[in-house]
Amino acid sequence: MQTQADLLSLADHVLVKNYRQQPIVLERGLGCEVWDKAGTRYLDFTAGIAVCGLGHAHPEFTARVAAQLGKLVHVSNLYFNDQQLLAAKAITDRSFAKRVFFCNSGSEANEAAMKLARRYQAVVAGQPQRTTFVSTINSFHGRSFATVAITGQAKYREGFGPLVGPVEFIPYNDLEAAARMLEQRTACAIIVEPIQAEGGIITAAPGYLAGLRRLCDDTGTLLIFDEVQTGVGRTGQWFGHQHDDVAPDVMTLAKGLGGGVPIGAIAVSEKAAAGLANQPGGVVPHASTFGGNPLACAAACAVFDLIDKEGLLANVAKASAHLAKRLGELVTEFPGQATEVRGRGLLMGLAVANLPANVVAACRAHGLLSSVAGSNVVRFVPPYNVTTDQLDEAVGILKKALQTGAGK
Ligand SMILES: Cc1ncc(COP(=O)(O)O)c(C=O)c1O
Repeated sequence: MQTQADLLSLADHVLVKNYRQQPIVLERGLGCEVWDKAGTRYLDFTAGIAVCGLGHAHPEFTARVAAQLGKLVHVSNLYFNDQQLLAAKAITDRSFAKRVFFCNSGSEANEAAMKLARRYQAVVAGQPQRTTFVSTINSFHGRSFATVAITGQAKYREGFGPLVGPVEFIPYNDLEAAARMLEQRTACAIIVEPIQAEGGIITAAPGYLAGLRRLCDDTGTLLIFDEVQTGVGRTGQWFGHQHDDVAPDVMTLAKGLGGGVPIGAIAVSEKAAAGLANQPGGVVPHASTFGGNPLACAAACAVFDLIDKEGLLANVAKASAHLAKRLGELVTEFPGQATEVRGRGLLMGLAVANLPANVVAACRAHGLLSSVAGSNVVRFVPPYNVTTDQLDEAVGILKKALQTGAGK
């Protein structure tokens, strides 16, 4: 059997060195816990970076995905498959959306939304000159060429030019800046996260998303909400924008949608759907070989069903209130280190005075997995079924890390 040390040294030779993995090799999980190859147990407050909402190895989820694996994994989009149709219905039943296109990741979903926006303006609205994408400073929309171009953090774009464009960046939560930009009527779309997650867990101010809706209506701009991280229950509503009384034209999804099985989607209004509709005799305007495959869609169906069945949206809200309270206590107790509690639902963060990576490392040493968001935030995104005891255990570990001065 290969030990953890063997595998870590193998990693040094066989993987492209793009990531900065922490030095553990995870082998199995159950609920909110994972174990590494050396047998060490961790509380997992990363959930695969806001992906595994049902936790690891959820028995009913696993059984449903396994059953689908034994029936039909892939057929392509030359044909319909039952799971794709049911997954689309699960999304439209719970949202503003009337139609869904499936792909395989968050970046792909945002790519699809960008193509939709360009083609909508060119083909449906008769405004082919409206090619600019408006995005927000500090946003994160993915790592593909187009999505890295609309990501509002220069560090992700360095070394990759020339980039897809034109793109304009405006400050987040600034409606006046959005008005000045959109009034030029050069934008095909504006893309915004209901919570800037990778950017440091910055929540949309009350009225911001609704204000963007009004501006888009006034100027003929498509409104895209990137719900890749906030969607499918993470914030305590099905979709993050549902905390505000507003609907976009396009919503992009991935992460939590498949409970860990890779899948992405765009969910769109009837109007926006015309942007990617095929025309008789014309080429199929957008497609994906794997998108909407029965295996991934069966996983998505199971995620929606189990969130409902187990009352997990309510648990997210309850757990969020408890975690926010407990993190708030740490801000009081460690004022020089922990500066602010951020987030909504189970997309929560603790801003720290110094490098959050130091806190993440100290927590891991004590058995808690967390991750960094932005320049100064330790992010906590546990599964939706996390218990109060697990939240308290995590906060206890975090407290130990701060007692050693990790946040200073
Ligand atoms: C808001 C948002 N959009 C897009 C992406 C990219 O998703 P993926 O890594 O699945 O391509 C992410 C990933 O962190 C994200 O948080």
